[in-house]
Amino acid sequence: MKRTLLLPEMEDPSLEITMPSAPQLRVIAVTSGKGGVGKSNVVANLGLALALKGLKVLLIDADLGLANLDIILGLNPQFTIHDVLQLRKTLPEVLVEGPGGLKILPASSGIPELSELDEYQKMFLLNELDNYSESLDLVLIDTGAGISKNVLFFNIAAQERLVVANNEPTSITDAYALIKVLATQHNERHFKLLVNGISSPRDAEAVYRTLLKVSERFLGRDISLEYLGYIPHDEAVPKSVLKQQPVLTLYPKARASKSFAQIAQRLWEMPGPEEVDGNIKFFWRRLLQFQI
Ligand SMILES: Nc1ncnc2c1ncn2[C@@H]1O[C@H](COP(=O)(O)OP(=O)(O)O)[C@@H](O)[C@H]1O
Ligand SMILES: [Mg+2]
Repeated sequence: MKRTLLLPEMEDPSLEITMPSAPQLRVIAVTSGKGGVGKSNVVANLGLALALKGLKVLLIDADLGLANLDIILGLNPQFTIHDVLQLRKTLPEVLVEGPGGLKILPASSGIPELSELDEYQKMFLLNELDNYSESLDLVLIDTGAGISKNVLFFNIAAQERLVVANNEPTSITDAYALIKVLATQHNERHFKLLVNGISSPRDAEAVYRTLLKVSERFLGRDISLEYLGYIPHDEAVPKSVLKQQPVLTLYPKARASKSFAQIAQRLWEMPGPEEVDGNIKFFWRRLLQFQI
């Protein structure tokens, strides 16, 4: 099933974008080596931009140390994934609805127990997600930063990995460290890069070139790093965080908001991985069976 959507800013109907529906479900981990580079804002605003275009989007907050997607979106979740794992709540009872019809699975300290779940819990969660995911087009996971087990866990479970970095040397070296672990220990070869908080396209491209060069040199030429673009440094972003609303809706004319909208569209138009089982069951099976 396909849905054809006309973007509001496009007057020429020949430019209609056909958004694939549930059979082409994409599961993308948004990740970074270093914290504080803008992952959670990226997840919230890219997710929102695509939800506003009619896609059914689920955001998973998997940043256990600094879980804050709900705060950025001004939500007050009563329950978390932990309640699902403890069989206290069903998934639909735990999901919160955000702006634009976004669905959010709030984080909790229950996530580290995922690999230690018993068979019954695994099956229960699988069924919950399977029942729910039929109506989804996109899952974005805020993985948190670094190379901890949990970060790797969600990166490997997802079908695609979007690395966020800024131009600080530490952000670039840490992004490389994450790519290296995923490539050498888990055989992940394909990454996308989004540069955030930069003032000029040249500076953003320099971040991309540096990361590409070092990855190809030390990890081999079969590593692919696709450049998705950049989000400019924009004071509207921290202002919107203070007001607990996504910059995209609070300041739609801000430079960052326009970039988020463009990048969201580019991400959706970029091909996903070649061989994907469109069923979310695949994602959750990998996730639940995964052991590091
Ligand atoms: N494009 C940007 N321009 C200016 N400030 C930004 C931008 N992106 C993020 N920030 C600020 O950086 C800080 C960290 O962002 P956050 O999304 O929480 O990062 P992470 O999830 O990677 O830790 C926040 O205070 C946010 O307002
Ligand atoms: Mg965060």
